[in-house]
Amino acid sequence: MNLKPQTLEKIEKLIPRYPTKRSASLPICHLVQEDQGYISQEAMEWIAAKLGLEPINIYEIVTFYPMLREKPIGRRHIKVCRTLSCALNGSYEVKKLLEKALIGEGHGSSNADYTIEFVECIASCGTAPVVQVDEVLHEGIKPDRVCKFADQIRQETEQMKTSVSKL
Ligand code: FES
Repeated sequence: MNLKPQTLEKIEKLIPRYPTKRSASLPICHLVQEDQGYISQEAMEWIAAKLGLEPINIYEIVTFYPMLREKPIGRRHIKVCRTLSCALNGSYEVKKLLEKALIGEGHGSSNADYTIEFVECIASCGTAPVVQVDEVLHEGIKPDRVCKFADQIRQETEQMKTSVSKL
């Protein structure tokens, strides 16, 4: 496992805070996902060995919680709220339009640049529909604003790629 030194340090500090090692499983999964972007088979085996568990014990956790991922995601993680206020204000249409604009019709909801997912309420119901792009919340993204919004995301993504390639 190729975890960053700071992640390894956090994991080492975390384990003794729990009465049993097993209880640290979920927070360690979060730390590994934060570090790697997802939790691979190898990572599940590593976590299990670290906690004296079987890999199946970690696999059960990763597949149970929707916020944990077994596969890598695109460079930009786009989360569209689908709970009541957002759904009533068009979030299902918003997701469809974002997929069409950023990924292409009929090409699913993920590629190397973008992963677009539904999430449950992200506590901004008064400004529905809301879309979170990476860590930034965008409010009032109604279907008629999606085209401009997608252009903005696309531009930011191209800038990110350019700045990475200059490193
Ligand atoms: S319903 Fe979408 S933020 Fe609460």
